[in-house]
Amino acid sequence: MSTPARTRPEKGSELELTVDSLAYGGNGVARLDGYVVFVQGAMPGDRVRARIDRSKRGYAEASTVELLEPSPDRVEPRAPHPGASWQVLPYERQVAAKESQVREALARIGHFEDPPVAPMVPAVDPWRYRNKLEYSFGSSDADGLVLGFHRPGRWDEIDDVSDDILASERINAVREAVKAWCRDEGLLAYDRRVHTGFLRNLVVREGRRTGQVQARLVTSPGAALRVQSLVEAVAVDSLLWTQAAGVGETSREGQTELLAGPAYIEEETLGLRFRVSPEAFFQTNTDMAERLYGVAADLAGLSGGERVYDLFCGIGTIALALALRAREVWGIEVVESAVADAIENARLNSVDNAHFFAGDVRTAMRPLVEKAGKPDVVVIDPPRAGLSQKIVRRVLEAGARRIVYVSCNPTTLAPNARQMVDAGYRLTAVRPVDMFPQTPHIECVALLERAQ
Ligand SMILES: C[S@@+](CC[C@H](N)C(=O)[O-])C[C@H]1O[C@@H](n2cnc3c(N)ncnc32)[C@H](O)[C@@H]1O
Repeated sequence: MSTPARTRPEKGSELELTVDSLAYGGNGVARLDGYVVFVQGAMPGDRVRARIDRSKRGYAEASTVELLEPSPDRVEPRAPHPGASWQVLPYERQVAAKESQVREALARIGHFEDPPVAPMVPAVDPWRYRNKLEYSFGSSDADGLVLGFHRPGRWDEIDDVSDDILASERINAVREAVKAWCRDEGLLAYDRRVHTGFLRNLVVREGRRTGQVQARLVTSPGAALRVQSLVEAVAVDSLLWTQAAGVGETSREGQTELLAGPAYIEEETLGLRFRVSPEAFFQTNTDMAERLYGVAADLAGLSGGERVYDLFCGIGTIALALALRAREVWGIEVVESAVADAIENARLNSVDNAHFFAGDVRTAMRPLVEKAGKPDVVVIDPPRAGLSQKIVRRVLEAGARRIVYVSCNPTTLAPNARQMVDAGYRLTAVRPVDMFPQTPHIECVALLERAQ
């Protein structure tokens, strides 16, 4: 029986809770006399029965056991999808929640009193926008071999997917073709509990503007594949096979062999053509990447004479977009194949004022300043963890007039921006851009200007 609680709830207990808002990361927020409970699987306005998974002095974490009264704002989900937990929220509510989470992170973590957050740039298409998907193989009693996503909270169980509502029809068709071929061949999924079996993951990438598709099959090592039969069954532009021996999720490890086509695909954005290698990062929403880079370019405020640094430059997308409006651009990126792509992309697009270096921003920043001279504008686009304090210090030393910070995590942007402001910059603009509709993920671009 569930009971209303007035004190800190015990782990394992069940409570009835009313959710009033959404926290960063997507969990619902409920309050017990001011004590906060983060509830997984609940939306604002829901009344739920929830089980307490963790109980701390300041807050608790819980999972929804039963939806007692759904929020009147809930909409019907299109299809089950563990990566699209916000599809039950109307799209305008998703956008409003993300805007307020950016504001909240800057205020609470960055101690900005009234952060200058502009309205979010909404998605061009809130469905079927992803250009890269990673599926996992598993098995079920009913269906045998399955290919889909991890069941939420389960590292060892995979649910089959027949229509991935965030992927294009084309990617869905490729996944189904690979699954059918593997079933026909009698291949078995890798069992994550006992470490036996063969098939692990399928990574599919699509150039949305070029129509090119790449599939990469990830397996355990040791068994043979009927390669020609697979090539014919899957019919993609680029087909790769990675054999990985580790026991964890292995799509980023192992030895990769090219089975058909080139090892890369190409994509277009902002009128430029980009080669993308399998290990290289590319924004997963092509239409919105164009909007994101457009916002970054506007905030960079270039007039043609500037020296620009593009830190964490990947395959050179931002650098090449800005090179057209600057005197010169210098990019740093740690993944060597991505740097090779960036150099090739500069050549493909006849850009001769962009230069790229392989290196860790932490150690490569000072040598770059010595080689290239101090930048006028620095663009930073780090992974979710944001910048270490040391990298922020290196950026501050370089003394750029403007810092354009592209962030996929406002909770790491906030302390980085605070460190920059404490060193003499002003946070003058923040523009969220919805790269990830139906999910709680947030992207935004911030501008920091050096006080004169
Ligand atoms: C969010 S992606 C941005 C890539 C690029 N700006 C784009 O939009 O396509 C972050 C990039 O930083 C790179 N990276 C991560 N840590 C790094 C480091 N310490 N030094 C240099 N690059 C790093 C990753 O390999 C990845 O390409």
